[in-house]
This record gives sequence, C-alpha cells and structure tokens, in this order.
Amino acid sequence: MAVLWFTPLTLLLLLSFSSAVRSCPPSDLAALLDFKSALHESHDGIFKSWTGTDCCSNWRGISCDRNSRRVAEISLRAGPVYTTFEKPYRPEYISGYISPQICKLTYLSSLIITDWQGISGEIPPCISSLSFLRIIDLTGNRISGTLPADIGKLRHLTLLSAADNLIAGEIPATLTRLTGLMHLDLRNNKISGPIPLNLGQLQMLSRALLSGNQISGPIPASICHIYRLVDLDLSNNHLSGPIPEDLGRMAVLSTLKLDSNRLSESIPASLLGSGISELNLSHNMLEGSIPDAFGGSCYFTLLDLSYNNLKGPIPKSMSSASYIGYVDFSHNHLCGPIPSAYSNTDASSFAYNDCLCGKPLKAC
Ligand SMILES: *[C@@H]1O[C@H](CO)[C@@H](O)[C@H](O)[C@H]1NC(C)=O
Repeated sequence: MAVLWFTPLTLLLLLSFSSAVRSCPPSDLAALLDFKSALHESHDGIFKSWTGTDCCSNWRGISCDRNSRRVAEISLRAGPVYTTFEKPYRPEYISGYISPQICKLTYLSSLIITDWQGISGEIPPCISSLSFLRIIDLTGNRISGTLPADIGKLRHLTLLSAADNLIAGEIPATLTRLTGLMHLDLRNNKISGPIPLNLGQLQMLSRALLSGNQISGPIPASICHIYRLVDLDLSNNHLSGPIPEDLGRMAVLSTLKLDSNRLSESIPASLLGSGISELNLSHNMLEGSIPDAFGGSCYFTLLDLSYNNLKGPIPKSMSSASYIGYVDFSHNHLCGPIPSAYSNTDASSFAYNDCLCGKPLKAC
C-alpha cells in the first residue's frame, strides 16, 4: 500500500501544498504592496526585503499567523537616531501616509509604525473594522486628522498609542468601550474637548497619558474607579475645576501629573496620605493651605506644588513623611517656618512665597 504515496497524484498534491505554504494570500499580498506604495523610504532599507510572493517570510516588519498564514503584524519601528557633530542623523527615514488598503488585512492584530517623523496623513478610519487589532502604536510621526470616531469597535484593543503626532479633534466618545485597554498614550498632540466622563469604564487601564494637548473641562471622577491605574498624566492641558478627592484613594496609583492646567480649589488631603510617589500639581490655580495630612506612609520622590495660590504654613506633619526627595513649594503665598527636616533643601524650593523663613531661607 505504501506505493500509493508515490503516485503522481499524491506528488502533485504534496507539491501544491508546499507551494501554498510558501506564498501568502494574494489579497494580503496586494494590500501590503498598496501600503508600501503610499510610503517612501529615503534609503533602501525595509521595503527592499518586500519582494516575491510570500509576504510571510523574510519581509522585514511583517509576521503572519502560523495557521491561517494571514498577515497578523506590521511592525515598522525607526532605528535609533545618531548624533554626529551635534546634528541628529537618522539612517532610515520614511515619509508618505498610511494607506487605507491596510484595512484589507482583516487578521491584523498589531499595527506598529513608530518614530519615522515623516509619516503624515490621517489614521485610516476603516481600521476600526479590523476586529482582531490588539495593538495600535503610531507614536512619533506627523499624523494629523482625528482619532477614528468608531474606534470603540476594536474590542480586543489593549494598547493605543498615538503620542507625538498632530492629531486634533476630541477623544471619541466610543473610546470608553475599549474595555480591554491597558495602555492609552495620546501625549503631545492637538486634542481638544473634554475627557469622556465615563473614562472610568476602562477598568483594565494601567497607564493613561494625555499630557500636552488642549483638553478642557473637569477631571472625571470616574477615573478614580480604575483600580489598576498606576500612571495618570493629564499635565499641560486646559483642565479646570477641582481635583477629585478619590484620586488619593486609588490602590496602585503612583504617578499623578496634573501640572500646567487651570485646576482650582484646594488640594485634597487624601493625595498627601496616599501611595502616590510622584505628584506634580505645579502651575495651576490651587488655593487654600497645604493639608496637614502627611504621614509615615508618605514616600514622595517628587512633590511639586509650585506656582499656585497656596496660603498658610507648611504643615507640621510634613516632618513625619518617610521620604520626600524633590520638593518644590515655590511661587505661592506660604508663610511661617520651614520644618528643620528640610533645612538642607535648595532655597529655590521655598523661594517666592509671602513669608516663609528659616533654613534654607533667612532666619525667622
Ligand atoms: C512639574 O510641572 C512643571 C509644569 O509643567 C514643570 O515645569 C516641572 O518641571 C515639573 N516638576 C518636576 C520636578 O518635574
């Protein structure tokens, strides 16, 4: 019976099977070639490897699903920038735009196109139909336009980063349906409008970085219910209103940057007795006194309350904090003695207040 294995028919079957393994689906191949033709490389680099009919093997930046042989990942990260004679030099450079043809790669799970600086145009809105997408990382390009309005359809998305681009418009309301999202980074764009009030629905979120935009309105209290949140950076925006008190009651929040906004009212006492280690509230319109709420569990590597309208004394409890590395209370209206535990601090940390005294400033 073994003879059967070598009939011409079986040979033919074997051959066609192995050649199928060596080429990717023609529709994926065509989509990738369209994607490539919308981009331009300054030197032959990545795209030089995009030849032949098997986009699944040896095409730099492309990986396919083992079983389906469909394109699962596009990962084009710019190499390091070298500095020669003080001039930054980038050996690889890609310009152009992201073709909407990538939306034909229906099995795509990661789209990573980072740090090329030269890629412009908008994020093709049709990417919200790529239902297997888990990762979108477009950091460090010149992408403009808005975020796709129905981005909330991407139920498997865990990482959305479009930091350091020129994206404008509002944060789409549907974003809060991305309930698997762990990492949101939209820093340094031109995003305006409010933070969606129900952002707290993103229960898996551990980093929410929205700094360096033109976001306005209040800090939604719902954020305080994201109990996995470690890092919240809303600095350099136009946020107004009070700081939600429950931000100081979050289980694992360790970095809270709210600096350079228009936040008002007083500093919630909870923030000073929390597990936060980096707290920057500088350049706001905060008033009242610094809460007398430091305790033995306080461990601040950075505590910056400078450039506000804080009044009154430096609270006595500050001496009981177990560690405060960098402190800046300058440019407020504080008055009274500086606790002796801080007498070796740089004078600039306490300068420009109404009447603070004692070391490192002049004697009371
Ligand atoms: C705190 O924020 C201000 C304003 O955005 C910034 O200038 C300052 O460097 C930050 N402080 C620290 C210690 O990083």
